[in-house]
Amino acid sequence: MSSELRFDGKVVIVTGAGGGLGREYALAFAERGASVVVNDLGSSRAGEGKSSNFADKVVQEIRGKGGKAVANYDSVEDGEKVVQTALDHFGRVDIVINNAGILRDKSFARMTVPEWDIIHRVHLRGSFLVTKAAWEHMRKQKYGRIIMTSSAAGLYGNFGQANYSAAKLGLVGLANTLALEGRKYNINVNTIAPIAGTRLTQDIVPPDVFEALKPEYAVPIVMWLCHDECQENGSVFEAGGGFLTKLRWQRTEGAALRQKGQKMKAEDVRDNWEKVVDFSKTRIVDTISESTILTGEQVTRIESGNNDLYSNHPIQPSLAKAHVFPPNHFEYGNKEVILYALGVGASTTQPEHLNFLFELSEDFVTLPTFAVIPGFNSLGGLVSGVPGININPAKILHGEQYIEIFKPIPTEGKLRSESKVVEIMDKGSGAAIVMNVDTFDESGEKVFFNQFVTFAVGYGNFGGARASSELKETCEPPKRAPDASISEKTTKDQAALYRLSGDRNPLHIDPSFAAMGGFKTPILHGLCSYGYAARHVMMKFGGNDPKNIRAVKARFAKPVLPGQTLRTEMWKEGSRVYFKTIVEETGTACLTGGYVDLFDGSAPTEEPAKEETSGDTLQSDALFEGVKNVINANIVKQVKAVYQWNITKDGKTARQWVLDLKNGDGSMTRGSASSNCAITISDDDVIAMFNGKLNPQQAFMQGKLKLSGNIMLAQKLEVLFKAQSKL
Ligand code: NAI
Repeated sequence: MSSELRFDGKVVIVTGAGGGLGREYALAFAERGASVVVNDLGSSRAGEGKSSNFADKVVQEIRGKGGKAVANYDSVEDGEKVVQTALDHFGRVDIVINNAGILRDKSFARMTVPEWDIIHRVHLRGSFLVTKAAWEHMRKQKYGRIIMTSSAAGLYGNFGQANYSAAKLGLVGLANTLALEGRKYNINVNTIAPIAGTRLTQDIVPPDVFEALKPEYAVPIVMWLCHDECQENGSVFEAGGGFLTKLRWQRTEGAALRQKGQKMKAEDVRDNWEKVVDFSKTRIVDTISESTILTGEQVTRIESGNNDLYSNHPIQPSLAKAHVFPPNHFEYGNKEVILYALGVGASTTQPEHLNFLFELSEDFVTLPTFAVIPGFNSLGGLVSGVPGININPAKILHGEQYIEIFKPIPTEGKLRSESKVVEIMDKGSGAAIVMNVDTFDESGEKVFFNQFVTFAVGYGNFGGARASSELKETCEPPKRAPDASISEKTTKDQAALYRLSGDRNPLHIDPSFAAMGGFKTPILHGLCSYGYAARHVMMKFGGNDPKNIRAVKARFAKPVLPGQTLRTEMWKEGSRVYFKTIVEETGTACLTGGYVDLFDGSAPTEEPAKEETSGDTLQSDALFEGVKNVINANIVKQVKAVYQWNITKDGKTARQWVLDLKNGDGSMTRGSASSNCAITISDDDVIAMFNGKLNPQQAFMQGKLKLSGNIMLAQKLEVLFKAQSKL
């Protein structure tokens, strides 16, 4: 980092470089190897007259020190001529510093139209014209650095400078958009608002302050922003006297002023004014997408009848989804493996169970549903200590469970689990919290994946989504008599035994605690019944061998009491076995929508294929295939996220793609995986969007583009896909 920032071979245009700040930039760039066009009209502070002396003097000074410079005396209003000077003398243009400026200060009441116009012509239009003339050259060479010079007067307003303030803030808007348009051509556009003692400020700032604000102090930030190494783009900085600071936009949390189905009135604004303007809690907004998405989220809440936007609602999905669980380490031996097997009903009375119960058995193995134990452990229960989820634990029900096995679970070892809340669905009567846990062995290979769905009763209506593409859906069995069934009686102590594997919730052993939850006696753990059911399917259709089990999903429909009999009914369709589990004594189903996916020789995918028309070619296939050519390790470094694309046709998911911009060199593959951000859009709309015919923000607002997970990540994709669609 200590190496000098050099500009050898670079061609720099500095406008208004005959004096003040511009002169300092010109001298400094030349000193560090650049060839400099010293532009200056040589006018008065008010923009009257012209003279070649200003530029000539600076050029002489540079040349006197052995540097390369050429003078240009045109006004920035003749931007093309300024740029032509660079091309004629040095053959290219790499850096433009829009610096030329004048003042025509007047109170607004006395300001004339010519006084307004000339300020706009020199500052805003002049910067536009010089930049415009250089732009095409920069695009072609895929390199450019541009500086706009704004002013605190524009950022904050200043008495007597209505014309100047407007033009100066106009430059920020210009830079914001050019930064976006230039990004893929490696053209960075930044803005500085300097403060320096020059002829512009000599009668404004007191003499001692004037001295402390040497123009040369503004040079380093400009140099850095113009250097190859600097990737800053679209930013605004204040710089003066050796102090630098970056600016950004903030919004208040805001307020919902409209009740669903009712007219919005001025009185609503008045009555909510304090909330609208309260900056005690703020949101930082850096891009138009963020702004639109945040507004879109709130409009969705209003539409769902929730006006309590960021609210005191105990469920705050964005907070919960942003939470990073610390990695969880789980060390176990054969004792834990055996205890778990006993907990889910393995018994020495059945010879085929010995493999799960006796560590010296030749084929000693771990049951696949043992995967839930480290998963549960990593979440510290069904959900606890997650910001944005403040709920009474007595109101929590385990809703659904999915596991997927990637390699046989060792009979002992050290596992590391990474957990996250991926979605909180608003079911009206409650909140369905979806949590994913990936578990790895010591070599870093993924062993299994858990998805816990926890239902928080009475915590709905927070304005969240009703459904989620993150959710591993349950599946109803075929409408025919089951192909097979197995019944097994649990023991009275089944819950007492199962709890020793990790879930020590008193609900499962303490009668008084169970009574508080409205149960006559302690109930069996849902995951215990789940272990029974998976074992039943494995016995019937999986050769009683855990290696044959790929995934298990079920919904917990009704509680089971220890001592009751569980009957698992099964239907086999290809490599999937649908099941439901019924409490024989009552005839009620305790596990519904269940399935077990078996390994049928094919390599595991992250999720059972959901594509409906996977054989057909979609228009967007070429686009996604093409993206493979533009992704690389550099993009992965910048993005660090996995995206799930669900492409629909005729309202059904027709194609799924996983864009992995988190690992290695990145990849684009068909299928689905656990992702940081899921994007659902139709085949037609995705094409329209990346051809520039459908604006992503509008698509989102119109419901054509559905996002879940960390939706802010979606905007990182725009550039990538646009770049591809132009190939
Ligand atoms: P300055 O007056 O010392 O330098 C401006 C230069 O621009 C002059 O040499 C002038 O001849 C030249 N110029 C004026 N109109 C031109 C035109 N149409 N075409 C080409 N050259 C032209 O002023 P200073 O302070 O160095 O200002 C540089 C920039 O920084 C200006 O854009 C100014 O608005 C901005 N700025 C300066 C602040 C300060 O504290 N000095 C504060 C905020 C912004």
